[in-house]
Amino acid sequence: MELLKQRILQHGYSLNENTLIVDSFLNHQVDAELMMRIGQEFARRFSGEDITRVATIESSGISPAVTTALALQVPMVIMKKSTSAILKDDIIQTKVFSFTRQNSYMLTVKKAFIHPNDRILFIDDFLAHGEASFGAMRILQHCGAEIVGIGAVIEKTFQNGGNRLRDAGYRVEALAAIRKLSPAGIEFV
Ligand code: G4P
Repeated sequence: MELLKQRILQHGYSLNENTLIVDSFLNHQVDAELMMRIGQEFARRFSGEDITRVATIESSGISPAVTTALALQVPMVIMKKSTSAILKDDIIQTKVFSFTRQNSYMLTVKKAFIHPNDRILFIDDFLAHGEASFGAMRILQHCGAEIVGIGAVIEKTFQNGGNRLRDAGYRVEALAAIRKLSPAGIEFV
């Protein structure tokens, strides 16, 4: 997606060779207009797939997921990273270890919001090592839903999560794929 790549080049920067900072438009401050275009692009790529629900993980996946759901005219479900006093019954959980953040959390969703006959598109901001996506897949499969595909706003191909997911049989669509981050710049695939 050319508009997204231009935005990354203009306003993104490498923190180091593993981490891209895009907090001025994607995951801290959010460019709502760009998010609308991102949602429309995911909807275009997955058109004809009879998607019944979009799912994501809090927090940075929410903005692209909600615009995708809007474009597809379906509900969007947020998978939580922790439980609370009001989210304790009829939930399903799986442990996810994040290589990027070097911590684990219990990915959690209320069973009522994922149905066995659902056709789900999973959307997230970054696809790095893919642990979050694999965790989401475990939950969705446990609920009996069909996974139509995975949409990542930015895939870092050098961290291999995308290939692991493709090898596992999932359709993965990235709107911008980065193969290298270095002091010299950002290299797209
Ligand atoms: P992992 O297997 O390496 O943990 O990768 P995963 O794709 O599961 O991403 C883990 C977390 O790290 C996600 O955020 C993701 O957005 C973030 N992340 C991965 N690579 C980058 C990067 O290059 N830049 C930035 N800014 N973030 C990155 P999270 O822990 O779910 O936090 P949240 O921001 O969604 O709350």
